[in-house]
Amino acid sequence: MNRNPIIVALDFETAAEASALVALLGDRIQVYKIGIELYAGAGMAFARELRSQGKEVFLDMKFYDIPETVRRAVCQVARAGLQFLTVHGSHGVMRAAVEGRDTSNLQLLAVTLLTSFDRQDIEDLGYPCEATDLVDLRVRKAMAAGMQGIVASPLDAARVRRLAGAGALLVTPGVRSAGAAKSDQKRVATPAEAIRNGADYVVVGRQVTRAADPVGEVDRVLEEIAAA
Ligand code: C5P
Repeated sequence: MNRNPIIVALDFETAAEASALVALLGDRIQVYKIGIELYAGAGMAFARELRSQGKEVFLDMKFYDIPETVRRAVCQVARAGLQFLTVHGSHGVMRAAVEGRDTSNLQLLAVTLLTSFDRQDIEDLGYPCEATDLVDLRVRKAMAAGMQGIVASPLDAARVRRLAGAGALLVTPGVRSAGAAKSDQKRVATPAEAIRNGADYVVVGRQVTRAADPVGEVDRVLEEIAAA
């Protein structure tokens, strides 16, 4: 496990709001996730700004496009010196991403299946299988394609760790401390459970970003993890 396994998801509309939280958290947090909302508002300029402050950036763009487009876009992200990038766990997409990464230090993470998907969504895709079967298949494909890691639900973390092996990077969003508001997340576990189940990093969003005392919340999560 990392010394500090928390990645804070900067789910804000503007760079100003995101920067204010980064400044408030100071040295407590080293890795920040930029999702599609903040990317739409502040773009790569903000990612570069975080890099210039010595922070690591997890660009959660979940790329899904034709291979040549994915390859070229991943190449751009790698050139910008970012640390983590998500792409969908579809075979052609992952292979193109691995080509685009080339020999850079960018860590490519596969999104196996959106955790908001239920059985009906999977049926609608035309796959006659359970969510866990699809996740497992995509984990195997991701590792075979040369991806560095997997984004998984904390409830799948132990199984995904076994399938992906000790060398894979495992990142789990969908975590909440006991007693914290679940918001729209249905399948959650505590950050300590996620780490115990094999996660390298936990992504924490609203529990910190919407807290009255974000610093206090980060410290609370760190203490919970240390105690586990
Ligand atoms: O606010 P909360 O902690 O629920 O946010 C978690 C972050 O992780 C969000 O940025 C969301 O996009 C992302 N995420 C998630 N669940 C997944 C995959 C990604 O919550 N299954």
